[in-house]
Amino acid sequence: MRSISLILKQFSRSVLLIAGLAMMGSAAHAQGDAAKGKGIFTTSCASCHKLDKNGIGPALGPIVTSDTNDKWLTSWIHNSQALVAAGDPKAVAIYKQYNETPMPPFPQYSDADVADVLAYIRTGYAELQKPDNAQPPVVEEKGPSTMMVLGLALVVVLAFVIILVLNRVVGSLEKLVSKKDGTYTEQDELAAEVVKAERKAKVMALVMNKKFVFFVALVGFIVSFIWMWIALWRTNVHQGYQPVQPIKYSHELHAGVMKIDCQYCHSGAYKSKNASIPSLNVCMNCHNAVKTESPEIHKIYDALGYDPEKRTYDASKARPIQWVRIHNLPDLVYFNHSQHVKVGKIICQDCHGPVQTMKEVYQYSPLTMKWCIQCHRRTEVNTKGNAYYDKMFAVHEMIKKGEKVTAAAMGGLECGKCHY
Ligand code: HEC
Ligand code: HEC
Ligand code: HEC
Ligand code: HEC
Ligand code: HEC
Ligand code: HEC
Repeated sequence: MRSISLILKQFSRSVLLIAGLAMMGSAAHAQGDAAKGKGIFTTSCASCHKLDKNGIGPALGPIVTSDTNDKWLTSWIHNSQALVAAGDPKAVAIYKQYNETPMPPFPQYSDADVADVLAYIRTGYAELQKPDNAQPPVVEEKGPSTMMVLGLALVVVLAFVIILVLNRVVGSLEKLVSKKDGTYTEQDELAAEVVKAERKAKVMALVMNKKFVFFVALVGFIVSFIWMWIALWRTNVHQGYQPVQPIKYSHELHAGVMKIDCQYCHSGAYKSKNASIPSLNVCMNCHNAVKTESPEIHKIYDALGYDPEKRTYDASKARPIQWVRIHNLPDLVYFNHSQHVKVGKIICQDCHGPVQTMKEVYQYSPLTMKWCIQCHRRTEVNTKGNAYYDKMFAVHEMIKKGEKVTAAAMGGLECGKCHY
């Protein structure tokens, strides 16, 4: 009965929630589409702004809810630095208030897009303010740690040793007691010795038994063969490789908690063969104002020859940071990121694992030939709307019609086919 009432309760709650959301949606529609705005906010604003907490930029919920001058907000979001440069007093005041951290311009968003974002900020913040919407704390589920397992194993081994020792002690004590009593006679001594000799003879018989020796040797051979086989397959496979990096840069914090898009730093993965590591200037977009006192951030300043007091760069003092490369295919393999990420639409995490939860990046996949091939065997390719396959179809048609097919028709004029 309890469970039925529980289900009913949950059902009515979700109906209420959906009705509420629908009503909110229609209310918001008058000005902007909050659902669309949420998408824009997540990709472009969430790395610096939260609705209810200060981040790199101020908490937007209270500001945008109280400031109803949407025209000014729109021009700020399109290009805040232009407003500051034009001497708009409100813009200059805000810019000063946040230690002159410039907000990047967003000319790519239309007025309607910005209206959607503002609608999302207002409705999203109103939602957060409702007391029953407080998120329940996330309880992290953790399996037994290795320390616990090791400790348990140690306890078991210790208990075993103690039992053995106690057994021996009890045995010799019994012998002593019976000797004192006089119940322990020479016959007993003899009997004990006979038992010992019998045991020895049994062991000797086993050792001399050819079948048994053969069996042991066979098992030993099989075990060492399997071990060698595995070891050979693992040579040059660096799965799990996790070197210590020169700066304690955390993907968990930047890509996970702050939700900075991978593309912000590794844009190469979408356009070229190499994903590439971002230059430190990318870090400075935020770290010229964020955590300026941290010794880790000072490593960035030192590497760039940047003086945080004077806010000047001295190129003569600059020296590159030596990130330790983690993923490394041998030179005999050609691997192209954009082919997989952009054309194949494979997400980074399929190959690199949950990078957004890693404090320090490690090599998640084996990067063996078997790994590449297994994925190629099972992944279906979507050929629709793909220029590469359109060209293949065209060539196919030419062959069918008996026309001359040149290397150029097969893409032999494309820069990327001959150049890295
Ligand atoms: C790289 C960080 C960054 C990103 C990304 C960013 N902002 Fe900002 N934003 C700031 C900072 C910093 C300020 C404080 C003002 C200043 O220093 O220019 C600010 C200020 C603002 C303000 C003015 C607040 C006030 O006091 O009136 C609004 C509105 C705003 N941001 C909206 C947005 C929206 C919408 C987006 C996404 C389209 C966005 N921001 C993306 C950093 C950012
Ligand atoms: C703020 C910039 C930034 C963002 C955002 C970012 N990265 Fe990185 N990434 C770095 C830097 C710097 C390194 C080099 C240091 C290191 O290995 O931690 C790196 C290293 C890596 C490496 C290891 C490269 C090697 O040496 O083989 C992988 C894989 C990677 N990032 C994937 C991702 C993925 C996937 C995302 C998105 C979920 C992401 N990164 C988001 C800056 C960033
Ligand atoms: C979009 C803004 C942004 C970018 C880009 C960015 N960071 Fe950060 N980073 C932050 C913020 C915000 C924090 C502080 C979070 C907190 O309050 O602890 C931080 C924290 C750190 C810390 C920890 C500092 C400490 O002592 O706690 C390190 C190290 C760091 N970042 C390195 C980097 C490096 C290296 C890059 C470039 C590859 C980079 N960050 C790019 C916003 C950014
Ligand atoms: C199909 C698997 C696959 C996907 C998808 C993939 N990577 Fe990689 N990534 C690799 C391999 C393999 C290497 C090693 C390349 C080498 O050594 O030449 C690598 C290397 C890297 C490196 C080291 C520097 C470099 O350019 O070689 C970074 C950073 C990186 N990947 C980031 C990303 C990001 C970000 C994404 C998503 C946008 C992504 N990768 C998607 C397989 C993949
Ligand atoms: C997660 C799955 C996955 C993994 C892992 C993967 N690939 Fe791929 N690969 C694909 C897909 C999907 C395509 C087809 C993309 C397209 O053209 O639509 C592809 C295409 C290719 C192509 C182009 C083939 C052609 O005919 O144009 C090459 C070359 C390639 N991969 C090399 C590699 C190498 C080298 C590795 C291992 C280091 C690897 N791939 C790992 C999924 C994967
Ligand atoms: C069929 C193969 C092929 C194609 C396609 C191709 N290239 Fe080249 N490219 C070469 C070769 C080979 C060289 C070196 C010639 C030499 O050293 O004299 C070269 C040299 C160059 C150079 C001079 C590099 C230097 O350092 O001297 C540039 C720039 C260049 N190519 C750009 C392009 C661009 C842009 C495209 C696409 C529109 C392209 N290439 C397409 C084969 C090709």
